[in-house]
Amino acid sequence: MMKILDQQPDESGSALSYAGLIEKIEILRSTLRWSSRLERADIEKLLKQASSLRDEVMQMSHKERFVQAAVVEPLRGDQSRGARRQALLARSFIFEGTFGDNPKLLEALEIAEKAAPTDLPVLIDGESGTGKELMAKVIHANGSRSDKPFISVNCGAIPENLLESELFGHRKGAFTGATNDRKGKFESAHTGTIFLDEIGELPLTGQVKLLRVLEAHEIQRVGSDEPIGVDTRIVAATNRNLRKLSEQGTFREDLFYRLSVIHVTLPPLRERRDEIPLLIQYFGDEAAGALKRRPVRITPKLRDFLLTYAYPGNIRELRNVMYRISCLAGDIADVDHLPTDMRPTPPVSASMFGGANEAANGAANVRNLLSLSDAKRAASDEAEKAFLQRGLQEVGGTVAELARRVDMNRSHLQMLLKKHGLHSKDFRRAHAQANARKDDEEANDEADIG
Ligand SMILES: Nc1ncnc2c1ncn2[C@@H]1O[C@H](COP(=O)(O)OP(=O)(O)OP(=O)(O)O)[C@@H](O)[C@H]1O
Ligand SMILES: [Mg+2]
Repeated sequence: MMKILDQQPDESGSALSYAGLIEKIEILRSTLRWSSRLERADIEKLLKQASSLRDEVMQMSHKERFVQAAVVEPLRGDQSRGARRQALLARSFIFEGTFGDNPKLLEALEIAEKAAPTDLPVLIDGESGTGKELMAKVIHANGSRSDKPFISVNCGAIPENLLESELFGHRKGAFTGATNDRKGKFESAHTGTIFLDEIGELPLTGQVKLLRVLEAHEIQRVGSDEPIGVDTRIVAATNRNLRKLSEQGTFREDLFYRLSVIHVTLPPLRERRDEIPLLIQYFGDEAAGALKRRPVRITPKLRDFLLTYAYPGNIRELRNVMYRISCLAGDIADVDHLPTDMRPTPPVSASMFGGANEAANGAANVRNLLSLSDAKRAASDEAEKAFLQRGLQEVGGTVAELARRVDMNRSHLQMLLKKHGLHSKDFRRAHAQANARKDDEEANDEADIG
């Protein structure tokens, strides 16, 4: 009996096979079946065996998945999107709620699938709201650390002087305010995954320290010289072009290469417009579920708007809009239920100059509940849009002239206009109308005088 209990977990870690596992499970079963009474110590041993069996099964299933992923036919010309998504599903890929079968998104998911079971660092880039954090969770969930912690750190939100202590922890008394020993994020993520969000915002001093952790796999708490070994898988994300930042000298090139062994790029929503109708439905249903109501119906006018809007905030913006209209509308939602700053602009009115300010105030109210970084980004988007509107109005809608005045590349300017859904012809029309009105008034004035 004790001999059975003393069966050691297979430390060699090598020859994992189903037959071997089943044999171990059978031994465990007969131990339990024939024992009339178990001491606490025996129970502990059995528990340990059961846990190690579970780990082995997990390891095998990950290995299998990895092998399956690795043999996926790379030529996909003839494979439909549905089939690609289906194939991921069939290989038990965990989507974590990632929706869509746009080829660019599928490609990102397929890379994630292959990267997940490895410990290689992954760099995810994409505009704000394209699902970078979700993708990091997907990678974590499909890897062998899925039942270990996933720790998220927003590198852009930590003041520089607290950065080191936040990441690596500190000893009591290391600095004023350090009243206790404290674990940092890296230690919390030990055996799991650490998600370094907005890595492009990490100051250079932080970059040097991070590089050292990546090389040595150990950290030191602030105020201590004792190294602590950490085993964490690193997934980083950014909405900036790190290669460019490293050319400009604000991001260390060696760190960039270390982080981006695997590089996943998420497409902005405007490059997967074909999925907007499905996403409207998906988030409409999701919102209805969350709000415990029937899915909202949408007027053709609102639908048209939602299908053509530029979505600078990408999927997050679309999702927020669907939640908002599901909450505010009765049975049927219309453009009035959109946030003020998102509503289709009536082609340039006289209130344009004051209007931009009003819109910004309205938006500030709507956005009260979002995070600080969202609010900042929204404010910067609004300022950009207001600037462009004002500029276009001043030049009567001539893009080339505006480009010259603000000393900007014309195609870049065109891109920004597109991003904000601004059409230069609306401004030309408004300009022509205003001129016509002015002529009329002058004619009337003359008539009065006469
Ligand atoms: N493909 C997708 N399917 C379903 N939901 C998605 C998808 N992509 C993103 N989302 C949802 O959109 C929202 C924004 O995603 P997430 O926070 O991952 O974006 P992000 O790129 O990290 O944004 P930011 O740069 O602003 O931090 C989340 O609610 C997420 O669940
Ligand atoms: Mg994010």
